[in-house]
Amino acid sequence: MKRDAAAVTAQLAALGARAQRRTRRSVEAYAAAGSILAPVIGGQRLVNFCSNDYLGLAGDPRLAEALRAALMHWGTGAGAAHLVTGHTAEHHALEEELADFTGREAALLFSTGYMANVGVIGALTARDEVILQDKLNHASLIDGARQSDARLLRYRHADAEDAARIAAEQSQRLSLIATDGVFSMDGDIAPLTELAAVARAHSAWLLVDDAHGFGVRGTGGRGSLEAAGLAAAQAPLLMGTLGKAAGTFGAFVAGDHEVIDLILQRARSYIYTTAMPPAIAAATRAALVIIREEGWRRERLVQLIARFREGAAARGLPLMPSTTPIQPVLVPGSARALAASEALRQRGFWVSAIRHPTVPAGTERLRVTLSAAHSDAQLQALLDAVPESIPPAAPGEPTV
Ligand SMILES: Cc1ncc(COP(=O)(O)O)c(C=O)c1O
Repeated sequence: MKRDAAAVTAQLAALGARAQRRTRRSVEAYAAAGSILAPVIGGQRLVNFCSNDYLGLAGDPRLAEALRAALMHWGTGAGAAHLVTGHTAEHHALEEELADFTGREAALLFSTGYMANVGVIGALTARDEVILQDKLNHASLIDGARQSDARLLRYRHADAEDAARIAAEQSQRLSLIATDGVFSMDGDIAPLTELAAVARAHSAWLLVDDAHGFGVRGTGGRGSLEAAGLAAAQAPLLMGTLGKAAGTFGAFVAGDHEVIDLILQRARSYIYTTAMPPAIAAATRAALVIIREEGWRRERLVQLIARFREGAAARGLPLMPSTTPIQPVLVPGSARALAASEALRQRGFWVSAIRHPTVPAGTERLRVTLSAAHSDAQLQALLDAVPESIPPAAPGEPTV
């Protein structure tokens, strides 16, 4: 696009006409101290049903206290990249604890999950190689492949047979298969056992992005690979994010010593960026202790998920096949999904509308997410409000 003010205006107007222009809502305060589940917007107190704070740790005072203590010790910023002077004992201890937690030899911290995916894919693939990904993978995995020198091919969503078919055609060139562990917009689970077998059969890496499974799924919250019974030998590489269930910020990749060292040598989004603040690493260490020790948070989530699905089914709401805290309600049509989200806001709930191009056109949805910190009364009130908030489909518009 040329530097042309009229072209900029026209592009924004076109997005607006398709109900795809994104806007931000500024949170003025949290009604309960530190609770992202109780935001105040435009003077109105809402219940947040669309964060990724699955375990309710983002507002936990123990994390805040660990952060405060570390801030006094380490200061606010790391001041440099890990490979320069930014790697502190706090980062190092967190890496060791994450490796231990995930049953891998080593772990490497990244500043964000987006950067972890882009970095790992770039580090482990090369020109003339093929990367195979699920059609509905998170944008950061897709972007990692696009930015790499390798060629990206995609298999049908959660379809390991389709992955096996393409892998067989590309056996010589295939170097990496990547999948979300839990799909971020659908909440369903990847066929990890089958994908691990495909990857093994073609000597390819399997990279599992467990942004939404880490802390939530598997024994002790160890994630989707553990839940699938896959140990390091069957699925060596695991990526997790820390800004969701862990309630802080950042991400990591875990694997054996050598592959983690190779990623450290090669991942440009690791090498050429400032390390996360050490105090964030300290708060994450506190989160990891809670994730290990407070299994009741996961039990509470399981209970809330079952209640939400039962209540939604009783009200005839179109759910997706998800057993995780991500429970989308389909509202096809961008304008209709936006209107439903707005009507929910008026009733005191924050549930964002997910539109094309984040999801395929015609599958727009309200992305409801549940947190262990939600009360039964809040869940019940949401279930009552959702059916009243979805506008009827216009003639010719799909209803589901
Ligand atoms: C599946 C998945 N992977 C990666 C990311 C990126 O993580 P981060 O927010 O830490 O960049 C997200 C969401 O943010 C995600 O949903």
